[in-house]
Parts: sequence; C-alpha cells; structure tokens
Amino acid sequence: MNYLIGIDVGTSATKTVLFDEAGNVVATASSEYPMYQPENGWAEQKPEDWRNGVLATLKTVAEAVENKEDIKGIGLSGQMHGLVMLDEAGQVIRPSIIWCDQRTGKEVEDMLEIMPRKRWIEITANPPLTGWTAAKILWVRKNEPENYKRCRHILLPKDYIRYILTGEFATEVSDASGMQLLDVPGRCWSKEVLDALSIDPSLLGRVYESCEVTGTLLPEIAEKTGLTCEVKVVGGAGDNAAAAVGTGIVRDRTAFTTIGTSGVVFAHSSKVSIDPKGRVHTCCCAVPGAWHIMGVTQGAGLSLKWFKDQLCQDYAAQAEESGKDVYDLINEDVNKIPAGSERLIYLPYLMGERTPHLDPDCRGVFFGLSAIHTKAHMLRAVMEGVSYSLCDCNQILKEMGVEVTQMMACGGGGKSPNWRQMLADLYNCTVKTVKQSEGPALGAAILAGVGCGIYPSVEEACDKIIREENSTEPMEERVKTYEAYHKVYQSLYHSLKDDYKKLAKL
Ligand code: XUL
Repeated sequence: MNYLIGIDVGTSATKTVLFDEAGNVVATASSEYPMYQPENGWAEQKPEDWRNGVLATLKTVAEAVENKEDIKGIGLSGQMHGLVMLDEAGQVIRPSIIWCDQRTGKEVEDMLEIMPRKRWIEITANPPLTGWTAAKILWVRKNEPENYKRCRHILLPKDYIRYILTGEFATEVSDASGMQLLDVPGRCWSKEVLDALSIDPSLLGRVYESCEVTGTLLPEIAEKTGLTCEVKVVGGAGDNAAAAVGTGIVRDRTAFTTIGTSGVVFAHSSKVSIDPKGRVHTCCCAVPGAWHIMGVTQGAGLSLKWFKDQLCQDYAAQAEESGKDVYDLINEDVNKIPAGSERLIYLPYLMGERTPHLDPDCRGVFFGLSAIHTKAHMLRAVMEGVSYSLCDCNQILKEMGVEVTQMMACGGGGKSPNWRQMLADLYNCTVKTVKQSEGPALGAAILAGVGCGIYPSVEEACDKIIREENSTEPMEERVKTYEAYHKVYQSLYHSLKDDYKKLAKL
C-alpha cells in the first residue's frame, strides 16, 4: 500500500495528515501557534512556528507506517499571500506579514500610480490588494530598508516549508497567483509587473504546476522526521485551491464555501474569468490549465473564535467539565435563537474586508443591540453576519455569469449544521458536504499522489476518493427572513463607510 501526506499550514494551526492511497486517514497531527497583532489591522506569524509545527507533526504521522518506503509523497498547502523573507543563509529576516494584514493601504495607492488598475487586472487578474504579497514587499522596502537589503529570497508560507523540507526555492501557480506578481493567464512571473515594481526576479522561486515534483526530502529532515530521502514533495496549492481538490471541486459548475479563519466562496473555471470591478479574485487553480474565482470574507471563523476567546469563558468552562467541544455547546445555544437573531446584525470586518468592499479600514459592528439580546443572540448574529458576507461573494459570482450547480461546504465552520443551514437559506440552494473532512490536507495529498504517478490525474483521483455526505436544503420561511436582513446588512456598510475612514485616522 502506498501512503501520501498532506500538510496544511493554516492560520491557527498546522495540520498534517497521512492518507493511504484510497484516501483514508491513517494518522493525523496538528500544532497550534499564535497570530501577533502589533497594531490595529496588522497580523504577523513566525515562520519558525510553522517549521516547528510541520516537523513535529510529520514525525508523529510517519510513526503510523511501519515500512517508511511506502510513504511516497508530500503535498503542501497553506494560508496564501503571507510574506516570508530569507537572507543569504536562508534565515528568516522578520516575522511573516500574513494574509489578513491590512497595513498596506498606501502601497496599494502607489501601485495604482505605477500602473493603471486596468493593466493590473489584465496581467494579475486582480486589482492591487492590501492583503496580497506585492504590497507587503513594497511596505518592507519603504519602512524597513535594512531588512529589504538583506533579503535574498521571497517565499509564501507553504513554500518556506518546502525550502525547509527540500532546500528548494519554489512555488506553484495557485499560491503564486496571490502574490500579485504572476501573469495569471500565462501562469508565469510577469516581467512587466516585476520591472514596474523594481523587484529583482532572482528573489522569487521557480513556478511549478501544483502536481509537479519540486524536490525530495533533505537527509537531515528525513532523519528528524523518520521519513526517507526518496519522499517527493510536489508543488501543492494555496489552502483554497487545495481545499477545492479535497472537496472534489475540480470541474466547471462546481463550487464550495469554506469557513475557516477566513471565509471563501470558490468556483472552478476552465477559462480565465475576471470581475472587472475587482471584487472577487481570479487565480490559477491546482488542476493544470484551469483557474478559479473566489470571494473572500476576511473574518469568518476568525469572528467566532474572537468572540469565543474574548467573551465565552463560561462555554469554555462548561466544555472542560462535560468533555464536549466548545463550538458544539455554542451551536446548541445558537440553534435556539430565531433566524435574524431578533433584529441583531453583525458586520464581520474585524480585519477589514475584501469581498465585496475591498476596504482595509472597515471594522466589526453589532447593529441593533437591545436589552432583549443574550450572548446566544450575539453568537448567532456573528454566524449570520459571516453568512451575509459569504452571500455577497456568491451573488458576485452569479452576476459574473458563473453557473454553479453544486455547492459544497467545508472548513471548521462547514461542520456546523447551523452554519450550513444559514448558507443554504441565504444562497437559496442545496449545500452539501463531503465525507472526507480534511479539505486542504487531502487536496495536497491528492496532488502528491498525481505527482508520484499513483493517480492518473487530479480529476480521476477525486472521482475515486471523494464521497458526498450531507445535504442541507433551504427553508422557505428563512429564505424570506434572511433576504430582508441581508438587505439591511448590505446597506450598513455604505452608511458607515465614511466614518470608518475617520476612525482609521484617529
Ligand atoms: C485567500 C485568503 C485566505 C487565506 C487564509 O485569498 O486570503 O483564504 O488563504 O486561509
């Protein structure tokens, strides 16, 4: 039996899963780490934490297989857009500025002066974005010139892990799309963009397709983790493109919604399809020769986790006592509150927003608080607010003519029947889940299997491995209720837009 490993370098933890070639989970391990917020709207993590997490979890899962030669390949997946800078000796120069960081408003303005918005969209398929890597590179160059001077390699989070595992400086098309330096239709670095930003191309790694082999394990890593030096490491994919493979979203007309730290509505597309208003992203996907379109809610699971960590010590104590999961307890109470949370609306803009507003300065709001409301109302409102935002993403895909006949839910939030019901009601369509809940880790392992010749193609591997499980239908009454609430939700941003700007300047 052959085995494959998928590694997902997430925002809250790294999750490493060992699968057999039929896609069954054999062993799983995870390692959590903090996110640092030195200033309002900033977000950083330590690449060393990712590295330690990956090495420890790899060692744990490798123990599950007696004959280590049977472990053939590793696929990497991870949070997109993060900036990792290494010096000549391959040492990390500064903490990584990660995907949800919003410090680069000025750099985005500069990028628009350097090149017209239309040209940015033609080449990179997206307008300049605060959370994407190019603006972060410009920020470091301007604000930390000493660090920039020492920088010899620029990598994305999962590609830093590739460097640790294989010694190779490389990336692949799906994650590289989120750097704003890639010619997305052409699937290669854009000389025009690199020249315009004066970024030396030698700082960037080679770009592969997601299932191509990028290297094998370094002897010292093999020794540390108990694996062999023959293990192949394939390109892998950004977490959303990897989740697509792990959920079987690899053909036209299929889409998924993931509720992880961020929330994403993702549709596969065999052609490059771009929103001229730049409200959703177009990126290369992990299936060779295909793309995807995705809308992103910055603070999805992040909103619920923030509320839980700050205000739900009672739930945490109850979970500890009963041995139940804290989110299950929260969901039990949320289920008792009616749709609309009795006129309470939450805007999930804790880390600014991308779809549909592209606004680094907006922030979270509870609107309509009354003395009638309890903590459970606020928790339901948080989940609904995230769902309203995901509904905005879905509406833009519809406006663009992206036809979707299959909508899956995945990620931690996708496991909640309450959240899936909200999505089904707001999208007014069936929302399904797949039996395999490992999402990005499974997708990355499948890509490794294709790279190692175990599966003939990504699509055929998905057909063999992925199975549908649950199906949630919209409830007519709630569809109407949510339609009305969603309208109020949508108008709130416009009412607050100018005040957000004033607040950011204080
Ligand atoms: C996508 C995005 C997030 C991160 C973190 O554009 O920023 O989904 O990949 O998961």
